[in-house]
Amino acid sequence: MSETADRTTAIVLAAGQGTRMKSDRAKVMHELCGRPMVDYVLEAALAAGAAVAVVVVGRGREPVTEHLRETFGERVKAAVQAEQRGTGHAVACALQALPAPAEIAFVLYGDTPLLHPADLARLRDVVERRRTPLGLVTCRLPDPTGYGRIIRDGSGAVVAVREHRDASDEERAIDEVNAGVYAARVPFLRQALGDLQPDNDQGEIYLTDVVALGAARGGVADIAAPAASLAGINDRAQLARAEEAMYERIADLWRRRGTTVRAGARVDALVELGPDAVIEPGAALRGRTRIGARARVDTGAVLTDVAVANEAHVKPYVVAQDAAIGARAEVGPFAQLRAGTVIEEDARVGNFVETKKTRLRRGAKANHLAYLGDGDIGEGANVGAGTIFCNYDGVLKHRTVIGARAFIGSDSQLVAPVTVGEDAYVGTGTTVTLDVPADALAIGRAKQVNKEGYATRLRAKLEARSRKSR
Ligand code: UD1
Ligand code: CA
Repeated sequence: MSETADRTTAIVLAAGQGTRMKSDRAKVMHELCGRPMVDYVLEAALAAGAAVAVVVVGRGREPVTEHLRETFGERVKAAVQAEQRGTGHAVACALQALPAPAEIAFVLYGDTPLLHPADLARLRDVVERRRTPLGLVTCRLPDPTGYGRIIRDGSGAVVAVREHRDASDEERAIDEVNAGVYAARVPFLRQALGDLQPDNDQGEIYLTDVVALGAARGGVADIAAPAASLAGINDRAQLARAEEAMYERIADLWRRRGTTVRAGARVDALVELGPDAVIEPGAALRGRTRIGARARVDTGAVLTDVAVANEAHVKPYVVAQDAAIGARAEVGPFAQLRAGTVIEEDARVGNFVETKKTRLRRGAKANHLAYLGDGDIGEGANVGAGTIFCNYDGVLKHRTVIGARAFIGSDSQLVAPVTVGEDAYVGTGTTVTLDVPADALAIGRAKQVNKEGYATRLRAKLEARSRKSR
């Protein structure tokens, strides 16, 4: 890590109520592309070189703190703002949690997930180069209503930010706004926050008032950035639009790295895709799903925390969770792989097959209509249509073990716990209750009887009965 990085830190404000989300959850915990929005802000700050970040939490803070600890560990700390007395007060609450070597702090709002790390790095560079106590990002908006306006002097230098509700008509006509992205020198920040007064329309302590103090104590550096990456999320309509933009960004990232992600595929933030893999429209890849090189995931597949190896083919409408699919394996269409399923290389699972805690070893097949729970299916074994592993006796779950190359005829039930040996054969329609030795044939069905001419006589009898009843 560079020296600058060690001296850079970040403060992320996330204590507000988020009233307009109309939610019981803290606003920053609402997700886009499978991650809470605050994560994106933190990732941007860390990517821009912050060694540590302090998140200011308030309303509904327990789940936020817990999530941050699980996701970021030591790199992110929480500071509590018990009462929401304004953005300046929130930053003050973060100060004591800042690490000692911190010289420059990014100050960010937790509801701007589209932030680019490159803009943060650029902002810090300009503050360092111009040796100013403070820098901020501005952008121009066709409708600046609600935002703080950038006030410049005759030379074009930023001298203040005026909040919309405190602005004059003349100031409200300014279309250049405060994006809410700052880089500040920590000693200046400590001093300036102590000087802030709640003398505004809301009676709050505004962070934006440090801008005038910075202008008076060495100047405020500014950079412009496109509005699209600075959008703040206050309600679910804005969240939906930001999520669309984020899905597009994620898809483009993988496209640049050599994966085909067709329009309309949904690849969540923590998913990883291999080169030359193809993700078809309508596929949804969630959690920590990983797709190998040259693998294909078809329309309508929903994969959550699934590892798909190279050249595997996940056909349309496969639903899978906590599962692994081996190299060149084929799954679906319309299959469900539940938690603990392992499909090894070259194995095949076809339509209307449900698996749970079951391993299909290399080259094994279950091509149609089956329930395979708590099983181990040997290499090259073949499980026929309509096979059911009767794994549950109402109280306990039991295992079914099938040896390599065994053949399970269609419409068989295997009543677990039960074992079928290697190369054994289970006749169609058998209910297997006893272990089958290797190389044996198990058959357990009633012998068939054919009664010649019986169908004709039966039909005549039934028709006569129907005439009588009319
Ligand atoms: C703020 C800026 C405004 C800027 C806009 C950009 C201020 C006073 N105004 O306005 O200049 O144009 O963002 O989006 O800073 N928060 C706390 N504690 C508090 C109050 C707020 O942690 O006591 C957090 C909120 O959770 C939120 C962030 O600070 O993440 C911003 O607060 P918000 O009320 O949304 O500020 P805006 O009115 O959008
Ligand atoms: Ca806001």
